[in-house]
Amino acid sequence: MITEATAPGKIILCGEHAVVYGRPAIAVPVSQVEAKATLNPAKTGFRIITPDLLRDYRLDSAPTDDPIASIINLTLAQFDEPPPNVTLELTATIPLGRGLGSGAAISTVIVRVLAQFFNQPLNTNTVSDLVFEVEKLYHGTPSGIDNTVIAYQQPVYFVRGRPIQRLRVKRPFCLVIGDTGVVAPTLLAVGGVRERWQTNREQYEGYFDEIDGLVRQIRVIVEQGIGKPSALGKLMNENQEILEQLGVSSPELERLVQVARQAGAWGAKLSGAGQGGNMIALVEPAQANTVAHALYQTGATGVIISQVG
Ligand code: PMV
Repeated sequence: MITEATAPGKIILCGEHAVVYGRPAIAVPVSQVEAKATLNPAKTGFRIITPDLLRDYRLDSAPTDDPIASIINLTLAQFDEPPPNVTLELTATIPLGRGLGSGAAISTVIVRVLAQFFNQPLNTNTVSDLVFEVEKLYHGTPSGIDNTVIAYQQPVYFVRGRPIQRLRVKRPFCLVIGDTGVVAPTLLAVGGVRERWQTNREQYEGYFDEIDGLVRQIRVIVEQGIGKPSALGKLMNENQEILEQLGVSSPELERLVQVARQAGAWGAKLSGAGQGGNMIALVEPAQANTVAHALYQTGATGVIISQVG
């Protein structure tokens, strides 16, 4: 029997990096892209095939820090099962290593497909906790936001170490997500912020507090659907300014952010770890194609239009 599981990508609307230091952040799933796991019974051994990464290897010969092997082993331990004889194929339309949650989504589909295979349903919190363990290999000191938003597949207001708070979106809004095409490991961006925080603690805590204030305002706007949509855009622009001061932006991101604003977006910012990866722009739905076109013209390697709520 073939078993299959999927999981969406995600963006961080506001609060990235500060969330690692205990401040809140808001993230939403992006269903236009996904990771997919397919499990086929095989004759011998546990084989892993990842066509996107051109890898084909066996679980028992994987390096100890291999994130895919790690989540498989953690899930097997959860079920107290030895590795079955199967071929696991992993594919993703989520661009890899570009802030859209590919790592957490791949881990999530592995947990889900194994849960189906062993006919042992897991609650979402357990899925999220297992994925979090492997996020440490990608992020170093993950806040837990990626595994939470992807496992729950719902908008979240997230505070590290606290139970999940679902975010109710009162008035749907439209985002254009633009990819710089630059692969930027989360580990490096998060590590860079940590180094600078260690030498300029007061200044960085100040930045995180400012972001905290913006996230709380954005939460009110999103949950209560109050004010003009441009007010949300303005707060996103302010968040981008602080992310630039944190040193996690990049010329490519700033070019796309500028172009989106010039093409009519109410606001735009990088999303995720930064230093590459994706940016998001808040747009009037009728303006989405114009902004998407402008981003492509400026060199975006991919653009997604996503309705939130
Ligand atoms: O995986 P990314 O690139 O979306 O980064 C996650 C967001 C950070 O706040 C930078 C890190 C974290 O663990 O929260």
